[in-house]
Amino acid sequence: MAGRESTAYTIGFAAIVCLVCALPIAGAAVLLKPRQELNQRIDRLEKVLAVAGLMERDEDLSAEAVEARFNEYVVPRPIDLRTGEFVDTIDVATYDQRRASRDPALSREAGENAARVFRIPLVGVAYEVVTNDQLQAIILPIQGYGLWSTMYGYLALEPDARTVSGITFYEHGETAGLGGEIENPRWQARWIGRQATDEQGVVQIEVIKGAAGPPESDPYRVDGLSGATITGRGVSATIDFWLGPEAFGPYLEAKRNASPARTR
Ligand SMILES: Cc1cc2nc3c(=O)[nH]c(=O)nc-3n(C[C@H](O)[C@H](O)[C@H](O)COP(=O)(O)O)c2cc1C
Repeated sequence: MAGRESTAYTIGFAAIVCLVCALPIAGAAVLLKPRQELNQRIDRLEKVLAVAGLMERDEDLSAEAVEARFNEYVVPRPIDLRTGEFVDTIDVATYDQRRASRDPALSREAGENAARVFRIPLVGVAYEVVTNDQLQAIILPIQGYGLWSTMYGYLALEPDARTVSGITFYEHGETAGLGGEIENPRWQARWIGRQATDEQGVVQIEVIKGAAGPPESDPYRVDGLSGATITGRGVSATIDFWLGPEAFGPYLEAKRNASPARTR
């Protein structure tokens, strides 16, 4: 057989079609990568600004405006999680803590934990909100397992490194209306003013089943999400891990010791 009916012709034709289709897609992926990375970075800055109360949820800012506001108020602090001390070995503008957790050279195995965090980055980035040289808030990236998925968010603490000033979850795969309520601003508002840890820095805060009292009389408990006890437990375990001794605990201890409340 020869010509258009031959097997070689069919395979050759299919190969050319694949190549012609693949080239523009591959080209677009390569060309758009810098734009995607910029968008991801701006997205991260927006999340930090929002949990710090420096940006309204429905505020629509250009990428430049987000960057400008972030640079005005927020200082990213790369921290050696084993010591709690600042490091200058990474470029915070390009460092991605989530990606570092997957890189064996940039992370280590985590001890057993209920948040199901398997690897922990050697360097974690805390964000300090500073105005007029005064620390206003500390924002920590957090991640842990709920019922179906890893939940990613940020927790904001007051300068005493204990009192919660905000929490947000921006990515998860929990069920909408059940565990997905971790995204609900009304539930997130229930955290504000509660104590994440006791005075010794031991994490005490937990999501309970049912309703908690006001922060003044019930500082360590947060309202549960109805029909989503397991997601709530995952959130408790997530805070427990990231504020604990294996993660940001040593850094927070240094902050607590430096806090003016301590010297009163
Ligand atoms: C389709 C489906 C989706 C569910 N999604 C969640 C969820 O996202 N988070 C969660 O904790 N429980 C979820 N549950 C419920 C759990 O199986 C479990 O019953 C619940 O966590 C118990 O919480 P409760 O004691 O508050 O009812 C789901 C159940 C079903 C049938």
